[in-house]
Amino acid sequence: MQATGFPAPLRLRSFDRARDAWPLDPAIIHLNHGSFGAVPAPVVAHQDALRREADLSPVGWFPRIADYVAAARERVAPFVGAKADDSVFVPNASAAATVVYNALQLAAGDEILVTDHGYGAVTMGAARLARRFGASVRTVELPLLAADDEIVQRFTDALTPRTRLIVVDQITSPTARLLPTKRIAEVAAQRGIRTLVDGAHAPGLIPDAASAAGGDWWFGNMHKWPCAPRGSALLVTEASDRHDLWPLIDSWAANEPFPVRFDTQGTIDATTYLSTPAAIDFVEQEFGWSEARVALTQMADAGAEAIAEALRPFSDEEPLTPLPNPVASMRLIRLPQGLGATREDADELRMQLLDETGVETAFTSFRGIGYFRLSVHLYTEESDIAAFVDRCIPAVLERAGMRAPHTLTLS
Ligand SMILES: Cc1ncc(COP(=O)(O)O)c(C=O)c1O
Repeated sequence: MQATGFPAPLRLRSFDRARDAWPLDPAIIHLNHGSFGAVPAPVVAHQDALRREADLSPVGWFPRIADYVAAARERVAPFVGAKADDSVFVPNASAAATVVYNALQLAAGDEILVTDHGYGAVTMGAARLARRFGASVRTVELPLLAADDEIVQRFTDALTPRTRLIVVDQITSPTARLLPTKRIAEVAAQRGIRTLVDGAHAPGLIPDAASAAGGDWWFGNMHKWPCAPRGSALLVTEASDRHDLWPLIDSWAANEPFPVRFDTQGTIDATTYLSTPAAIDFVEQEFGWSEARVALTQMADAGAEAIAEALRPFSDEEPLTPLPNPVASMRLIRLPQGLGATREDADELRMQLLDETGVETAFTSFRGIGYFRLSVHLYTEESDIAAFVDRCIPAVLERAGMRAPHTLTLS
């Protein structure tokens, strides 16, 4: 069997191979950027230098933090198509959802709509919000391959006079689907219903992710695809009641308006926020973000096809799941029958295969079916996919009670 169509290893201006720029363990195969990101060495160095500056003179550093964070907002907000005055830094997507949930007032009998592709922790937060007010959460079911029109229709049909809030992902976590959040939010707004868009995966993958998303509030992780240090996310809103949003940590700027009150959160390590411009600049200067999205698409397509080809002889169903409007860097490949049927099973498989094969992967579960969610970034090379095929597929097949495949030759 031959797999073709792989791009050559990418080169950056300052690095011989793109992968040399990421201080990832070379003994491990990294095919799960989507879960926790990966930080390029120059960005790590930038953050180290900032931390050193703080350590050398804490009094010179901490009283100035709010100004530094405000300056970082000015730099980072345009990357997601937002204005700095509409944007605040929060540590992560979960925090952004919590900030919004904390500000909302519902009444008994009100309803929040979520989807069956939603991120579990964000959906759990919606459930807690509902419980606080005697409201309820209802799940809109979206078939895995539903077209945009059908998705919008399913939301439209699900709205009731008691619906107050929609929580919907721009790019879904278990299924890597790009959802038409702008259209959903427009339908909702016509009925006075508000929309929170979970864009955790969107920055870097969707140009101007926040403005493309629509909705009343949007948040996105900078520590995923833009490769910022972990602990950097943006919450963006133009809502007229945004002055009801408060940081999770009340501090000295609590009496300031939005967004300034988020720039001060006590004595914290804000170097994650302050290093985010360096991460955005790194990809832009070394490669270009538009070019990066094209390169990621080529690698994701070639990688997914090679993995699917290795699984086909053992699958009753076509393993390559051709998502409508695929995002640049993630693909979904169906696991053999019975594997990863629940989120817990999928998570366990991820850790077992890492320990057994030295490959970092993401397995997900949707409606009782397990998937391999392939993630690639600029550091991904054909040999990583070959390693997945050689090491992980036999292990996966063995678990499914099947024999190991023939060796796959990648050209
Ligand atoms: C869609 C989605 N929402 C929220 C999150 C939570 O992100 P964090 O762990 O950075 O809070 C994730 C993380 O993968 C996600 O994929």
